Amino acid sequence: MKQKIRKAVFPAAGLGTRFLPATKSSPKEMLPLVDKPLIQYSVEEAVASEIESILIVTGRDKSSIEDHFDISFELEAVLQERGKIELFKQVRALADLVKISYTRQKQALGLGHAIYQAKDFVGDEPFAVLLADDVIDAKKPALKQLIEVYQKYSAPVLATMQVKGEAISRFGVIDAEEVEPNIFKIKSIVEKPKFADAPSDMAVIGRYIFTPELFGALEKTKPGAGGEIQVADAMRFLLDEGKPFYAVKLDGVRHDAGDKLGFLIATVEFALKRDELSADFRQYLKSLNLG
Ligand code: G1P
Repeated sequence: MKQKIRKAVFPAAGLGTRFLPATKSSPKEMLPLVDKPLIQYSVEEAVASEIESILIVTGRDKSSIEDHFDISFELEAVLQERGKIELFKQVRALADLVKISYTRQKQALGLGHAIYQAKDFVGDEPFAVLLADDVIDAKKPALKQLIEVYQKYSAPVLATMQVKGEAISRFGVIDAEEVEPNIFKIKSIVEKPKFADAPSDMAVIGRYIFTPELFGALEKTKPGAGGEIQVADAMRFLLDEGKPFYAVKLDGVRHDAGDKLGFLIATVEFALKRDELSADFRQYLKSLNLG
């Protein structure tokens, strides 16, 4: 199956427990990094990777995500009236960015279960999955890097990075063999292993290209780590059947913006890159004299 990757799925129904109380009544995907909500970064990455259609799998409190990517007549009228044309254009561009539809995951039963909600949307095409709290700062969009590997090997691909020490047990972890620089053929995968049991230091990060075969595997997947239906377990099922899977070590920096410390680091890094902020912000950071 070698087709263009046109569709992307964004699971966004998690409870955001790592960020309570901020996420009590609004989804973590709407936390702002500088001035854009987390999910906008990965939606823009998808668009820059030539994705044409997006499905956001939401849970409770989805309306703020929908509103963000919709036309806001009132706001646009006020901005125009006040002559704030640049802001008006930015706000309107968001509504015109890409075709987005929504479906609801009624219970938060895990990432695999969230992705399964996209079965009808996906149909019989290969598709991308992006986890919005993994914000990836890269010259070439991260998803595009995966798509290139998919085009070359005609098989599913995920993103990986090296994670040293105990922190590896917060991730899916792969056992893989390098087939060319930064590209690996996956032998096995395990979700959130204990440090001592981790097969390597290669963590899975939230970008994937799958084929619709995944849905059949998800149907057979029982709850795993954390009592949740894990996509890593469905992938292992396919690997055990001899289906190929690849991993690409991304050229870029990944921020875990769903975690408080990761979020703060991402905020500083992104603010320093903004023309209108960087000089003053840098000066402020210097004045902290942290020693
Ligand atoms: C999910 C995946 C995990 C992956 C991680 C990357 O876990 O299940 O395999 O390593 O995203 O961020 P979560 O962070 O949602 O628990």
